[in-house]
Amino acid sequence: LLWILIPGRVHLVMESTLTARDRVGVQDFVLLENYTSEAAFIENLRRRFGENLIYTYIGSVLVSVNPNKDLEIYSKAHMERYRGVSFYEISPHIYAVSDNTYRAMRTERRDQCILISGESGAGKTEVSKKILQYYATTCPVTDHLSTLRDRLLQSNPVLEAFGNAKTLRNDNSSRFGKYMDVQFDFRGAPIGGHILNYLLEKSRVVHQNHGERNFHIFYQLLEGGEQDLLSKLGLERNAQKYQYLVKGCCPRVSSINDKNDWRTVRKALTVIGFHEDEVEDLLNIIASVLHLGNTQFGEGKNGENQITTEPQLKYLSKLLGVDGAALREALTHKKITAKGEEMISPLSFEQAVAARDALAKAVYGRTFTWLVVKINQSLAFKDDVYNSSKGSSSVIGLLDIYGFEVFQHNSFEQFCINYCNEKLQQLFIELTLKSEQEEYEAEGITWEPVKYFDNKIICDLVEGKHKGLISILDEECLRPGEPSDISFLEKLEDTLGGHAHFVTHKLSNGKTRKAVSREEFKLIHYAGEVNYSVNGFLDKNKDLLYRNLKEVICQSNCQVLSQCFHREEVTDQKRPETVRYTHTHTHTHTHTHSLICHLSVIIHPVKSIRRFDEALVRHQVKYLGLMENLRVRRAGFAYRRHYETFLQRYKSLCPRTWPNWQGRLADGVATLVQHLGYKPEEYKLGKTKIFIRFPKTLFSTEDSLEARRPALVLTLQTSWRGYRERAKYLRIRQAVIVIQSAWRGMISRQKARRRRHAVDIIRKFIKGFIYRHYERCPENEYFLDHQRFSFLMMLFRNPPKSVLDKSWPIPPPCLTEASEHLCRLCMRNMMRAYCRRIQPEWKKQMEQKVVASQIFKDQKDSYPQSVPKLFVASRLSRVHSLTQCYGIAVTKYDRRGYKARPRQLLLTSSFAMLVAEAKLKQRIDYATLRSISVSSLSDGFMVLHVPSEDNKQKSDVVLQCDHLIEVVTKLATMADKKIKVNMSQDSITFAVARGKEGVIDFTSGPELKVAKCKKGHLLVTAPKLNP
Ligand SMILES: Nc1ncnc2c1ncn2[C@@H]1O[C@H](COP(=O)(O)OP(=O)(O)OP(=O)(O)O)[C@@H](O)[C@H]1O
Ligand SMILES: [Mg+2]
Repeated sequence: LLWILIPGRVHLVMESTLTARDRVGVQDFVLLENYTSEAAFIENLRRRFGENLIYTYIGSVLVSVNPNKDLEIYSKAHMERYRGVSFYEISPHIYAVSDNTYRAMRTERRDQCILISGESGAGKTEVSKKILQYYATTCPVTDHLSTLRDRLLQSNPVLEAFGNAKTLRNDNSSRFGKYMDVQFDFRGAPIGGHILNYLLEKSRVVHQNHGERNFHIFYQLLEGGEQDLLSKLGLERNAQKYQYLVKGCCPRVSSINDKNDWRTVRKALTVIGFHEDEVEDLLNIIASVLHLGNTQFGEGKNGENQITTEPQLKYLSKLLGVDGAALREALTHKKITAKGEEMISPLSFEQAVAARDALAKAVYGRTFTWLVVKINQSLAFKDDVYNSSKGSSSVIGLLDIYGFEVFQHNSFEQFCINYCNEKLQQLFIELTLKSEQEEYEAEGITWEPVKYFDNKIICDLVEGKHKGLISILDEECLRPGEPSDISFLEKLEDTLGGHAHFVTHKLSNGKTRKAVSREEFKLIHYAGEVNYSVNGFLDKNKDLLYRNLKEVICQSNCQVLSQCFHREEVTDQKRPETVRYTHTHTHTHTHTHSLICHLSVIIHPVKSIRRFDEALVRHQVKYLGLMENLRVRRAGFAYRRHYETFLQRYKSLCPRTWPNWQGRLADGVATLVQHLGYKPEEYKLGKTKIFIRFPKTLFSTEDSLEARRPALVLTLQTSWRGYRERAKYLRIRQAVIVIQSAWRGMISRQKARRRRHAVDIIRKFIKGFIYRHYERCPENEYFLDHQRFSFLMMLFRNPPKSVLDKSWPIPPPCLTEASEHLCRLCMRNMMRAYCRRIQPEWKKQMEQKVVASQIFKDQKDSYPQSVPKLFVASRLSRVHSLTQCYGIAVTKYDRRGYKARPRQLLLTSSFAMLVAEAKLKQRIDYATLRSISVSSLSDGFMVLHVPSEDNKQKSDVVLQCDHLIEVVTKLATMADKKIKVNMSQDSITFAVARGKEGVIDFTSGPELKVAKCKKGHLLVTAPKLNP
């Protein structure tokens, strides 16, 4: 059985989970209805065990049942699940205890301790490893600290190799007690560790019961050690060859892989920081123990006792670093001091064997202690973990001590172990049973004290001063004369006879006498009766190692041994140390007692076969006092809770306490329980807590809460959602307001700025307008600039669109000159653009039109009508196709008689000719053509004046044609414009021949008429087209 204690203040029962979760049994025995029944207790364990639920609470104590198989409940995810979660909110687990302890340490800043108790094989060591792993995984770790974490974890395989062995109960049974402190800094990170070891079962080095093995390290070395190493150590790879390994007839165990374990241990030694030299020394010592076992004695020639195995001796002297002859001497002789004189006397065969075994045990035992010291050095936060930095750090202690042992034959080792457990039980009683009863007292609750067995009487029997078993043993060891185991037994009978828990063969009555043999004494432990054989008690207590053997070892040049065996030991003549074992665990007690303890009880159902062995469990339940523990917890009240927490949890069940109770807490709880209909016998109100007697009361309250929960959840959800949405809405609204105000502010400021600007401008404008006629001055400069600017901008935006558009805005006075320049520029620009755009034919047309304009503009009536009519290249299609000349049909009037004759006028580049029916009638060279006369009316008449002195030439020619302006223009152009065109208003005079002249009179009339008048003039009447 195995115990872990959780702080007394955690009294909560996992109400919420009681009903909902984990319906297989109850997860806290306190809630067991039939709590007095051991059967119900075991049934609950069994049912849970059947469902692989190995953990159950008794209040704040954790009971664990060894499943002996991997349950997969120790993963990282599991660790996370238990992290920071309230103790009872989640199903019981060792991680819950670990986490709770850790948090208690951090929040209360007080050192904590987890006590683990249980019988061999119950799983104490496994639990302590799980706890360590939990801290290693979940605590914050820096790079620097990760080395320490690794060392903490790696210390286990090393200690287990040297301190664990296969026993009948457990393949990996711890054969020493271990108290481990893990030191945490203020952030909760592990920064150091310290291990205290107790009671190594040294007798195992030289003897093992049937079916058991020596410490693992021997087998690991033989199985895993490299051949070179073994040869160096003088060993063979066969455990059967070594006397110290064959006693139990069990060299191999199926569940143990020595070869792999060897590798693990070697690696761990490196991680922890062991020097290669130190490891070498360590292995030398291990090998020397095996050689010691094989060292045999026999009779010499003279009948004296001597060593018969020389090779062993050689190896021993080499491995232990001692003088061979001195060792031989020391193993076969003893030095005694009689009357101040030292004498050497030979040892008998049995004595020599005992001396050899004592040496093996001493060497191994002290090496183990050295190992722990080395590990502690490597784990130490600073040189002195406990003194320095104590103020800022806290520790969590883990006590893993082997459990109560009862064998067929029990000896001094079992006595020590069982006494240790007895003390542990005392501690447990003090921490749980007593404190429980004290709580009722403190709370002023009247109740019937529950009787439980207080094992103090047994502790006193063992450790009492002068009259205690240990004192008597010590005295007997040191007594002069011939003390023996039997004389010790007699002394016990004399001193302790009549004690209720002490029985011997002599002291027992006829009925019980059979149960105790003559060399035994029986102790009635809290956990059961155990018969101890007194054989070897004295020697084992003295831890017999002859002085001369010690002297030899003290001379050793092996570093490790010289640290284990101090020279002062042999020179110091003071009272020898005897009761090493028994004192150490008293120390355990005081040490753990100074810490807040968390207790876990582990029940070992049955090993190897994975079933629930009821008898075994019953026995453990009994000797761990679990029923008593439960009874005390229940006798009073199954449940207690501070008013505040109780009210906090159940206040929703009563309208008067919901949502908040304003008065005193006690009154609030009273109101609540009244409303819930608690009967007076069901509960008691203490000073600060409410105590509920029956679980069913709590269950029904819990059920009500469960039923109420949906509504509560709904209310909470609604409120929360409402709150969240409202908060969101308010946030958005606030944001909107901020944005709006910023935006509006900006807009208004902008508007105001614009308005101010506008006002300024208008003001300037008006002022400028008033002063517009003044010289440029500050008052009018804006106005003037504006005028100028707007005039220029207007021009820029609306320039004249075409050359014909003569409009131009009126400039302000200051821009008059510039405006003119601009207008010119603009016109030129437009004209230039126009000219660049113009086609060659059009250009020609224009040139002709220009010529026409120069000749006729404002002179001839028909001119405006001719402007839009385009000039053509020729009016005669045939002529045009032949030459580059212009042709038109004309009417020629004879100079005399004015007879009208149709002709065609052709104009070439150098002359004009009149043609009638393809016959040239008259040719007029341009050089001879003096001038042309036309009237100002729209008549189509023209007279070509030709010099009359030239006889060859006929005289002036009178022609009429349509398109007169075109013809005259062409003619003028072809004749290079040297021809003068006369414009006459009313008559044209022309030469007829030989000095005679003809006249054409022009008059305006409604229509064109040509007639001969009385004066012999030709009278032309033409309409006036333009007024
Ligand atoms: N929680 C567990 N899950 C699975 N197996 C377990 C568990 N606890 C213990 N065991 C098994 O039980 C064996 C014995 O456990 P452990 O060595 O811890 O016992 P112990 O209580 O320390 O015994 P001893 O007093 O002999 O040292 C382990 O080797 C392991 O196989
Ligand atoms: Mg163990």
